[in-house]
Amino acid sequence: MSYSIQLEDKVAIVAGGGRGIGRSTSLILAEAGANMVVVDVEKDRARAVVNEIKAMGGKAVPVIADVRDSKQVDKVVKTAVDKFGQIDILANIIGLASWAPAIEMPEEVWDGDLVMNLKYVWLCSRAVARVMVEQNRKGSIVNIGSISGMTAAPSHAAYGAAKAGIVGLTRSLAVEWAKYYIRVNTVAPGSMKTPRIVEMLSGSPEIDEAQRKRIPLQRWGTTEDIAKAVLFFASDLSDYITGQVITVDGAFLYTQLAMLG
Ligand SMILES: NC(=O)c1ccc[n+]([C@@H]2O[C@H](COP(=O)([O-])OP(=O)(O)OC[C@H]3O[C@@H](n4cnc5c(N)ncnc54)[C@H](O)[C@@H]3O)[C@@H](O)[C@H]2O)c1
Repeated sequence: MSYSIQLEDKVAIVAGGGRGIGRSTSLILAEAGANMVVVDVEKDRARAVVNEIKAMGGKAVPVIADVRDSKQVDKVVKTAVDKFGQIDILANIIGLASWAPAIEMPEEVWDGDLVMNLKYVWLCSRAVARVMVEQNRKGSIVNIGSISGMTAAPSHAAYGAAKAGIVGLTRSLAVEWAKYYIRVNTVAPGSMKTPRIVEMLSGSPEIDEAQRKRIPLQRWGTTEDIAKAVLFFASDLSDYITGQVITVDGAFLYTQLAMLG
């Protein structure tokens, strides 16, 4: 039997690779041997992660781009092909919730959340799939969803709708692109201690602790918890798995469903 978590000779793009879950994903894929294209709208973040990968002996290039813009996405794909000659893996990481009751939500907030959390996933996947089809090699696309897309998302309905949309998009692309052996899967995080969340929680240890206790595994998730699931979907270990969504949440989703039910 031959299977491998080695990603040597593979090329991976991480959209939003400069911080948090994206940074951990870039590092874990690089550790497994992939040549990395670290994409971020913040140039210092992308460069810092590339420097970390180079310090580990890996190969990486930063691309400063806003992946909500299809022209900038084309630039990302061109850089990957010019630098490394191919693309094998795409991780679509970026995402951000706007908080507003749906009854008051301005139209532009709805539109912005749908682009930030869903449309860009299609733009990046489309651009990368075109290259994968052309190069006639297997590919793996991994999206970051959220448990907010799998249950109710009160006060962040646009984000919840977009993340639910990722589930539908994952299934559609998986079936449509299976003939090219491009697999498409989604990792749906629960409550993760990303730098953004740590900042939000600073000064509120009681909220931090109350949330920890609500999670059946009794701890917040880490960025590495998500990166490990992305690595699984990116590697040959999941060679016959496509169109799937895996929650990485310490079983928190089920407590929410139980409460709602
Ligand atoms: N933290 C949680 O508890 C949690 C829960 C569920 C889902 N998620 C999802 O996890 C993902 C990552 O979350 P995070 O907190 O690690 O991310 P983050 O907010 O730290 O952003 C990751 C990186 O993406 C970059 N970025 C933002 N917009 C960009 C754009 N338009 N183009 C290019 N780069 C851009 C940022 O500069 C940042 O470096 C998101 O999709 C989020 O919805 C997080």
